[in-house]
Amino acid sequence: MSAELIDGKSFAAGLRARVAEHVPAFQKVTGRVPGLAVVLVGEDPASAVYVRSKGKATREAGMESFEHRPAANVSQAELLALVDTLNADPAVDGILVQLPLPNHLDAQEVLLRIDPDKDVDGFHPVNAGRLVTGLPGFVPCTPLGCLMLLEDRLGDLSGLDAVVVGRSNIVGKPMAALLTAKSCTVTIAHSRTRNLPHYLRHADIVVAAVGIDHFVQGDWLKPGATVIDVGINRVDGKLTGDVDFDSAASVAGAITPVPGGVGPMTIACLLRNTLVAAHRREGVPLDERAI
Ligand code: GUN
Repeated sequence: MSAELIDGKSFAAGLRARVAEHVPAFQKVTGRVPGLAVVLVGEDPASAVYVRSKGKATREAGMESFEHRPAANVSQAELLALVDTLNADPAVDGILVQLPLPNHLDAQEVLLRIDPDKDVDGFHPVNAGRLVTGLPGFVPCTPLGCLMLLEDRLGDLSGLDAVVVGRSNIVGKPMAALLTAKSCTVTIAHSRTRNLPHYLRHADIVVAAVGIDHFVQGDWLKPGATVIDVGINRVDGKLTGDVDFDSAASVAGAITPVPGGVGPMTIACLLRNTLVAAHRREGVPLDERAI
C-alpha cells in the first residue's frame, strides 16, 4: 500500500469540537442553545443506532436533542402534524426525519413538509435547488463531509478532474454539484456506465457512492488519485466500501478507509448544519467558512 489514509474520524472530531466552541457565544446572545429534532418512526435497529449516536453527539456539542419516536404504524397525517409542530417550535433549529420510513408512509411528502430553513439534512428540493444555483441553503451531510476531506487534503480543487460514481439525491447528485461549484470538471458515473475505467483513468478525485461493494478497482485509477469511499455495504457481517481497498490503496495517493473515513463526517456535518441553522434563524452572525 502506498496511499495515505484519510482519517475521517480524527477530522470529524476536530469539526465537532469547532462546532461545540461556538455554542456558548450563541447561548449568550439568544439565551438558548441550538436544538436538533430527530424523528425515528418504528424500531428499525440500524436506524435506532444512528439516531442514538446523533442524539449523543448533539448533546456532546452542547446542543439540545429532541427525540420523537412515533410507532411504526403512525399515519401519514400524524407524521405530517409532528413535522408541522417542529416547524413551528422556536427551540428547534434543525429537523431530521430518519430514513427509510415504513412502506405505508410517503417519505417524499414528509420531506417536503419540513421548513427548508430547518432542513439540516439538505434533502428538501428547495435546498437541492439552492445548492445547484449557488444560494445559501443546507447541503446533505455526507457529500459535505466528503468535500471537507477533499479540501483538507488537496487545498484548492479548481481545475481538477472528478468522477462521482453514483447518482443518488443524498450523495451523488449533491456531491457533483459541490465539486462543480469548486470548479472541478465533474463526471457523474453510475452502475450503468459503460466502460467506467475509461472515465476513472483521468480522475484526480474519485467519490464512490454507488452502493456496490468492491465495485471500483485499483487498476482503473489514475496513479496518485484521491479516493473517497462512501460505501457502507454489509458483507458477511463486515462493513466494506464501494472501492476494492487493497488494490486501490496501491495506486491512489490517498484513500478513505471503511469504516473510519466518511462515516464519522456525516454526524459532524449534521451538527455543523444545525449550528448554522440556529445562527441564521436568530440572525446571529457566524463565519460559516471557518467551521
Ligand atoms: N438514513 C441513513 N442516513 C441518513 C441521513 O443522513 N439522514 C436521514 N434523514 N436518514 C438517514
